[in-house]
Amino acid sequence: MKKRTALLALLTIAATILLSACSSIQRDPPILVWWDMKRQPKFRTEGETGLFADGRNTRYPPEDTVAQGYLFDETAYNTGMEGPTYVGKSPVPVTAELLHRGQMRFNTYCSPCHDRAGTGKGIVPAHAPQWQPANLTEDRVVQLADGDIFNVITNGRRTMPPYKYQVVTSDRWAIIAYLRVLQRAANATVADVPADQRGQLQ
Ligand code: HEC
Repeated sequence: MKKRTALLALLTIAATILLSACSSIQRDPPILVWWDMKRQPKFRTEGETGLFADGRNTRYPPEDTVAQGYLFDETAYNTGMEGPTYVGKSPVPVTAELLHRGQMRFNTYCSPCHDRAGTGKGIVPAHAPQWQPANLTEDRVVQLADGDIFNVITNGRRTMPPYKYQVVTSDRWAIIAYLRVLQRAANATVADVPADQRGQLQ
């Protein structure tokens, strides 16, 4: 009996010591048995030590300089604009490779709303009928300048969100080239079918 009491007392003491670590009161700074990598000698960007006279530990880049790889030149390719107007035609030459790339990117980033044919009946409006994407094969969109569509993808328009972070510049032009294919296909006539193949039409 005495043994059991002693054991119980021991357990209680052990539990008190162990559970005391679970207190909601945080020590600042905490007592560290093993120093982890959070605590090491270093300079923070605007740290308290102040490596430079102005108290900062980093420097501003010199004026009128651009870090390598960060140049944003205001060309038609980067902005879709030529002066104050949208470029009428894409500055990127159309190749089969470009169209394949555009098809892949369109199916990934545009078809959820605009569907794979571009008619605006994707899975998103099927679930959110109050949110209707444009039919990209209708005449109004066919008439838009390439630079205008570039601007829609980059910055969004009305209820369409921007895609500049998901779709890089080269892919935006690829998508536009492919979108022109979808528009042509949707508005095709018998005259677009080669004469020797018209007989196969139903
Ligand atoms: C999340 C859904 C969604 C996705 C994804 C989406 N769009 Fe749209 N898009 C819309 C909606 C909604 C509209 C209609 C905007 C309005 O008129 O309010 C629209 C309109 C447009 C228009 C017509 C703009 C105008 O001037 O009327 C174009 C062009 C267009 N989208 C191209 C694209 C392309 C290219 C992609 C792929 C990079 C894309 N969209 C991806 C929802 C989407």
